Amino acid sequence: MSAETRTPNPFFPHRHLLGIEGLSAAEIERLLDLSNRYADMTKDDSTARALLRGRTVMNVFFENSTRTQTSFELAAKRLGADVTNMSVGTSSIKKGETLLDTAMTLNAMRPDVMIVRHPDSGAINLLSQKVDGAVINAGDGRHEHPTQALLDALTIRRRLGKLQGLLVAICGDILHSRVARSNIHLLTKMGARVRVIAPTTLLPSNIDRMGVEVFTDMRKGLKDVDIVMMLRLQLERMQGAYVPSVREYFHFFGLDYEKLSVAKPNALIMHPGPMNRGVEIDSEVADDINRSVIREQVEMGVAVRMACLDALTRDIVGSNR
Ligand code: NCD
Repeated sequence: MSAETRTPNPFFPHRHLLGIEGLSAAEIERLLDLSNRYADMTKDDSTARALLRGRTVMNVFFENSTRTQTSFELAAKRLGADVTNMSVGTSSIKKGETLLDTAMTLNAMRPDVMIVRHPDSGAINLLSQKVDGAVINAGDGRHEHPTQALLDALTIRRRLGKLQGLLVAICGDILHSRVARSNIHLLTKMGARVRVIAPTTLLPSNIDRMGVEVFTDMRKGLKDVDIVMMLRLQLERMQGAYVPSVREYFHFFGLDYEKLSVAKPNALIMHPGPMNRGVEIDSEVADDINRSVIREQVEMGVAVRMACLDALTRDIVGSNR
């Protein structure tokens, strides 16, 4: 789609969704309201199915993914788009083609939306400047993962009715986590209070500048929180030892019922997946049907991604939304 075929899009005045950092609270609220409507819709809603008919959505994943790629694919299909999936194992990247060459090749097939995941922070911003369609960041290095933060927020909002005023603890490998960054941006913009809890080796040096309270002790940091968000130890991003041993890590930072007992009695447990059971979270806690909303997070992922695809394609001429 060329620039001339676009008209201003007051619903979401951005060409791409690269991160939460550049969005206003009002824009986030609108995306969440729309996601909420998609979450209540049946899987085969015929109005939704007509929305992206004739449009092309490309999933371009330079890093492994289970839930994110599948849920973007389902979301695009539920909106009636033609969807292609490219993952690095089967692409020419393995033959030495650069990121931008690959992007230009795919761009020549005129996708309306490219959904991109890449191991380098900033790679997707660069790519978005070279292509004609909209780009959605599905995770770039340790930088941002905006749709994960939106689906986390939707899950919380549907359970507790609000984000404003909640006390949220994000625990574990903050240093390597794009999920933590996007969530910190979103939750602080929406008026929640955020604590991060991690060993000092897994805390970015300037983390306090993001408007969070910093703890290195789970029992102190979890005191009275409404939400406990656990993060995976991202071993693939670690060169060298950041934790003495997995056993010791679980002892001090793994979420079990004992550590959870200082949180609010009904505090919700979240995890973006994939989980390392027995490393950052005890299996029983993860599966606790009264407290854990991990399954709901996955479910909300499809609704949020439908909303993002809808919002980013409203400026295409001929769209009557
Ligand atoms: C996260 C990611 O890829 O950033 N997973 C996801 O998208 N659900 C978190 C992780 O890999 O630990």
